[in-house]
Order: sequence, then structure tokens, then C-alpha cells
Amino acid sequence: MLTRWSAARDTTDRNATVAAAEPEELAIEATDQRLDQIATAFAGVFDAESSFTFEHSDRVAARLGFSEAELVRLRRAAQLHDIGKLAVPNAILDKLGLLTGPEWEIVKQHPAHTLGVLAQVPVFRELAEDTANHHERIDGQGYFRGLTLVQLTPAARVLAVADVADALMSARPYRGPRPVDEVIALLRQGRGTQFRPDAVDAMTVSLAAAPSA
Ligand SMILES: [Fe+2]
Ligand SMILES: [Fe+2]
Repeated sequence: MLTRWSAARDTTDRNATVAAAEPEELAIEATDQRLDQIATAFAGVFDAESSFTFEHSDRVAARLGFSEAELVRLRRAAQLHDIGKLAVPNAILDKLGLLTGPEWEIVKQHPAHTLGVLAQVPVFRELAEDTANHHERIDGQGYFRGLTLVQLTPAARVLAVADVADALMSARPYRGPRPVDEVIALLRQGRGTQFRPDAVDAMTVSLAAAPSA
């Protein structure tokens, strides 16, 4: 056994070794329902506060004409988007004061970790890029790769605006949730620079229609 494991030098080899060792009778079929359960479970574990990202992105995407299949995919991406935060120490995530430069650099890598994790899970692999692009901006000033408008899919652009709306509307240790009109004003400031205009417009209509969300 030792030889088999020690032969698995890189991640790909290791994954292949693990997959080959999986008893056939224990293999679980990846049904749609099961994938949703997995995504929901992860969302609950790593970021209980961002449940609204899922609802926001869903409403915005519906307004933008996403198909039902695209909505299903986006819901999973929304639930899994911050899974990479598991790689960021809690001392940084929960810090009350301003982050230092090096701490901020660590936080900015969390989407890279999201990409790394999801790309290794076959059933989520095709979601990995969109999910990891939730902090990218259409003007190229986002993180972690500084992608631009043409490199970002509609799903990634919806996720970006929904994530910020969620962050603004959630209470933080150092502030309460911001009121809806303030959230709308802040999102509009990023219209055309941070966010794609149609995504902001759909988001603001959605927020105005459901102020208690
Ligand atoms: Fe994030
Ligand atoms: Fe987030």
C-alpha cells in the first residue's frame, strides 16, 4: 500500500489512485438532486451569511433571461463560490479592524482556492471558472486574475453583482446591514466599471421590488 500511495506524486496521480481504489458498490450516482444537496451543504458550512448571494443571483439571472438549466447551474455556483475561504485563516476572515497588506493578499486568493477545489471535482469542474470569477470586474481591476469584460461569462457577471449586494445587505461584526436604497446607490456607482450595466439594472429592479430581501 505504501508503494501505491508514495507513487502518487502529484494531485492528478493521487486523485486517480483514490478513484481507482473506490469500491464500486459505494459509488454514488451524481443526480441533479444530489448535486444540489452537496452545494447546499457546502454553502451552510463555509459561509452561512451569504445565503442571499444565491437568491440575488437567481432573481437577476431570471430577469436577464437565463434558461432553467442555466439557473440551476448558477444556483450551484452561487452556493459554492466562497468555498475557497476555507483556505483563509479565521483570524483574518473574522478580524474586526482593517486588514494589513499581506492579510488582504491572502483574502484575495480565496477565489483561486475555489477554482482549485472545484476543478478537482468532476461534477463541478465545468462550474469552476465562473464560480472563481465572482470578484473579477469588467474593467480588469478585480481579483484574483484581473480578467476583463470579454473574458467573463454572463453567469460570472451575475454572480459578481449578487455577491456584492449580499455583502452589503449582510450584517458584519463592525456594521449592520445597509438599507436597500444605499445598496442600490452603491451598486450603481460600479455600473459599467465594476459590473456589467444590465446586471446592475436587473439587480436594482429586483432589490426595489423585494426590499425585505
Ligand atoms: Fe468571495
Ligand atoms: Fe461571497
